[in-house]
Amino acid sequence: MKKIEIIEVGARDGLQNESRILPASTRSQFVKKLSQCGFKRIEIGAFVSPKWIPQMEGSLQVQKNALKLKTKTQFSALVPNERGMQDFLKAPVHEVALFAACSESFSKKNINCSIEESFERFKPIIKEAKKNKIKVRGYLSTVYGCPFEGTINARVALKLTKKFLKMGVHEVSLGDTIGVATPKQVSHLFKLMKKNNIPMKKIAGHFHDTRGTALANVLESLNHGVTKFDSSIGGLGGCPYAPGASGNLATEDLIYMLHGMGYTTGVDLKKVIQTALWIQKEVGHPLMSRLSTAGIPKN
Ligand code: HMG
Ligand code: MG
Repeated sequence: MKKIEIIEVGARDGLQNESRILPASTRSQFVKKLSQCGFKRIEIGAFVSPKWIPQMEGSLQVQKNALKLKTKTQFSALVPNERGMQDFLKAPVHEVALFAACSESFSKKNINCSIEESFERFKPIIKEAKKNKIKVRGYLSTVYGCPFEGTINARVALKLTKKFLKMGVHEVSLGDTIGVATPKQVSHLFKLMKKNNIPMKKIAGHFHDTRGTALANVLESLNHGVTKFDSSIGGLGGCPYAPGASGNLATEDLIYMLHGMGYTTGVDLKKVIQTALWIQKEVGHPLMSRLSTAGIPKN
């Protein structure tokens, strides 16, 4: 049986776009429940400006509380610049996640700098992470399409993936930020990556499900040997600086499909559904997940 690693991003990507801002105490409870589901990796917050993303304020407290959990789960948080890294290091978890874009307009809108400048900002963060033995993940956004510039050539993601890997990140997560990709585009990208000797074990798929193509895109990624996927419980999510970006692929829908196909994830699907129903009450609106709505069918 083949193992698939799921990186649960609900506590970060999921909550950053919610109109109801959850306090650090509720987010910490959420992280605890998620770790009890059996996820090996959970993204728990972001050290970004609270003026830009108020939903992530208090991520240091969430991190401190996560460190108190008796769990083997590895935690990570988004860090955009040195200021964020300084805050992250006050109670560091296992991993920092850097994020850059494949389109200049989105880079400017999301982090107020060019793509080149964003990679310059990453250099001191990576140095600091290495010094503190913290793993570094790199995200690329708007890999397939940008809300401002339309379709993005796969060569951009290839070039930036190479750049990230050369800088020493252990994995690059390829984001379909606004959920426009189709399996044809996914296949084209991974063929190009493989032709250029990018090891698929260093790649994660990060699909938003805005147009209902996320599971199909996961299937296509599996065909190309990708074994790591980011998803968000209940299908929570979206990026406030990407108009039209709705929820991430729902974790429970992903796990249902994977387990049904004979893959293992180490995650307890029933607990995931219970947690999705709990966070649904906290955010105060119904979530997009099909499985949490329909339930697990009887054998
Ligand atoms: P800026 O305004 O250009 O920053 O923001 P600045 O350096 O000019 O500083 C302005 C003020 O912000 C200063 O404070 C700084 O100290 C403060 P003042 O002197 O005015 O009082 N500041 C900070 N405060 C807290 N934490 C920090 C920080 N940095 C500066 N780290 C910045 C630049 C990057 C901070 C801003 O644009 C920002 O926070 N952007 C966040 C965007 C974001 O979080 N987007 C969502 C995540 S990305 C995503 O969802 C995509 C992904 O899921 C993959 C996919 O789906 O494709 C990962
Ligand atoms: Mg995302």
